[in-house]
Amino acid sequence: MESAENFSKDEWLKLELLRERFLAAQPESHSYWGSLQDLELYDRSFARRISWKIEAVVDELIRLQALPDEFELVDFACGSGAMAETFAKSFSDRIKSITLYDHSSLAMEFSKAKLRRLHPQLSVDSIEKVSSVRPNSFIVASHVVGELSEESLRTFTQLLRGSAGFVLIEAGTPVHSAKLVQLRETLRRDGFSISAPCPHQDKCPMLNSDKDWCHNFAAVPSEVFQTPFWAEFSKRLKIDLRVLPYSYLSMSKASSPQPVESRQVGRARVYKGFVRSLWCDQSGQLEELEHSKKANAKLYKSLKKNPNQVFPE
Ligand SMILES: C[S@@+](CC[C@H](N)C(=O)[O-])C[C@H]1O[C@@H](n2cnc3c(N)ncnc32)[C@H](O)[C@@H]1O
Repeated sequence: MESAENFSKDEWLKLELLRERFLAAQPESHSYWGSLQDLELYDRSFARRISWKIEAVVDELIRLQALPDEFELVDFACGSGAMAETFAKSFSDRIKSITLYDHSSLAMEFSKAKLRRLHPQLSVDSIEKVSSVRPNSFIVASHVVGELSEESLRTFTQLLRGSAGFVLIEAGTPVHSAKLVQLRETLRRDGFSISAPCPHQDKCPMLNSDKDWCHNFAAVPSEVFQTPFWAEFSKRLKIDLRVLPYSYLSMSKASSPQPVESRQVGRARVYKGFVRSLWCDQSGQLEELEHSKKANAKLYKSLKKNPNQVFPE
């Protein structure tokens, strides 16, 4: 993990202000990036937490061999470029070029400079209009779907339609999960197949559930809990560092193999002698399963140790 040195008092105040702006952000409102410094502060703090979610998804996509051998990466709504950065870290040999797009020119300026510094061998550019994205690019986007107006969501959906595939990562809330499920249904009808997280290609069972939503939890690097910067971040921004829920969706124009047999959704609830958790399976059903310590000691132990994991060991 990159070390995060502490911020000055003034920088903390700026970060607190930035968070207020995120929370108040309305679709298509003026950009909350007031300066390159805002992006730098965000990149050293909020964007690191987002990268831990992206890393969880990237690990999963590697495990499922769900990405093309070569691709032109487009980071839509790049902000400080966390998506492109994390993908380039793992796939610099497969990425032919990186294109950054955001409605804030400051965001594109910041992320372009950062990515060129980190990957001088890669071609990194930004575009002013989403219509400049080349067909069959591979689109990545994180923490933006909730900010799009209906019209921008239509434009975004059209962009996804013209892509070779995409990975979207959002906060693990019911609202964000529902937006990804809607996109899943639309693009599924357009012939895209689901690479992850679903164990099936059918209609999402969350559409029939009013209490569950599709989310997982990313691991937080253990060093975070020994770092004064993150203790201060948690205190000032009132963010619990221990839990990092996210929702995600990866789809592709190429057909995907059935990736996993079944997948735990959300967190397991641990009781005395048994754990209970929700699973989505290959038949496209959600099922609440109970694993007793007696019948499956290994799974019980591993879920008790880490109720946030997404697979049985
Ligand atoms: C919460 S930030 C996330 C940034 C980055 N993707 C990340 O995960 O760290 C949302 C970003 O979306 C951008 N944005 C919001 N609406 C947009 C739109 N309609 N078109 C392009 N970018 C947009 C904002 O300028 C901002 O940079």
